[in-house]
Amino acid sequence: MAVRRLHPEQPAHFSFSADNRAWAEQQIAKYPAGKQASAILPLLWRAQEQSGGWLPEPAIRAVCDQLGMAYIRGLEIATFYTMFQLAPVGRKAHVQVCGTTPCMLRGARALVEVCQRRIAEHAHDLNGDGSLSWEEVECLGNCANAPMVQIDKDTFEDLTPALLERVIDGFVMGTPPPAGSQIGRTASCPEDGPTTLLESSLYDGSTVGAWRKRFEETEAVAAAAVTVAAAPAAATPVADAVRVPPAILPAALAAMANAGLVKELEARGTGTPLSPDDLQRLKLEVSRIQPVQNSADAAPLKPELLTEPRDGKPDDLGLIWGVADKLADKLNAMGIWHFDQIAKWTPAHVAWFEAEMAGFKGRVTRDKWIEQCEKLATGWRPTSDAGERPKE
Ligand code: FES
Repeated sequence: MAVRRLHPEQPAHFSFSADNRAWAEQQIAKYPAGKQASAILPLLWRAQEQSGGWLPEPAIRAVCDQLGMAYIRGLEIATFYTMFQLAPVGRKAHVQVCGTTPCMLRGARALVEVCQRRIAEHAHDLNGDGSLSWEEVECLGNCANAPMVQIDKDTFEDLTPALLERVIDGFVMGTPPPAGSQIGRTASCPEDGPTTLLESSLYDGSTVGAWRKRFEETEAVAAAAVTVAAAPAAATPVADAVRVPPAILPAALAAMANAGLVKELEARGTGTPLSPDDLQRLKLEVSRIQPVQNSADAAPLKPELLTEPRDGKPDDLGLIWGVADKLADKLNAMGIWHFDQIAKWTPAHVAWFEAEMAGFKGRVTRDKWIEQCEKLATGWRPTSDAGERPKE
């Protein structure tokens, strides 16, 4: 960083305007007694704005007087932070060119050459009519959109020499361009469109079903564990006594053991209700247990079946790729009328369905019925009436 010195020519006097004085008093009042000096940065900044974009030495003294600070402390701050200009700057624009590594690698040197040609050979010198000035500064925090410049409180990003000329022309004519990227990028997105997270299912709501199902499974296992815990001591075998679905009983018992509840319940006596704290520990353990992934490993469990379609309006199950009309009729006959019924199936439900349908082993999983139905249940529709083959 270059040595920062006060300008040799200074005004004789500085005092805040009435509005700025009232504003400054409000800022100072925000700090506890004895800590008023903490307001120095906003006050110096306001003094700089009032002085036409630079901070004269009398302004630094006036702020120090107002805050009860030694002048040297105000001078230390004003000469340390490059946001404070110690010499007059251009009336229309003072261009701060970032010259730190990312901006330098992306062409900041060429931007400095534009400033030297358009404004003045040396940084901090004014141009001929005093309307423009420039300087090179350290990183301004827009590295992803390098190279860039800051003018007043705005940043102008993704610059080329020609684009910087256009920005400068805008300030000279009093019509500066909108701040931000000068090539139309939104924030720091890739220049040629997204390159990651391209899966349309991330945005069409179709993955929500999977999360909901996982949540429902967790709740079901936790509820089963609560039921087991409340069962009388003599209730054996447990599953029969408490009517917990066999497919989730092992997970419920494992969660109880992991949560240390089995021993505690033995000590307390079974049949004791779980406390809220017990339940919290239990749910944490349930969430750590992986659900049964494969219908071949699951004990069959009858899914939700309906005696008739809801509101008399069945879904067109033929839109599931791999389900022809005859099969759709069979599904209806079993009590399956809607996409969301299939979307909720767990491996245990698939095991039940495949046991009911001779010669069907593995087809629900292979043809991704559940994933298809999760999408279809959101209102998504395939282009063909025969459905859309799921991606491998
Ligand atoms: S390096 Fe230029 S903004 Fe960070």
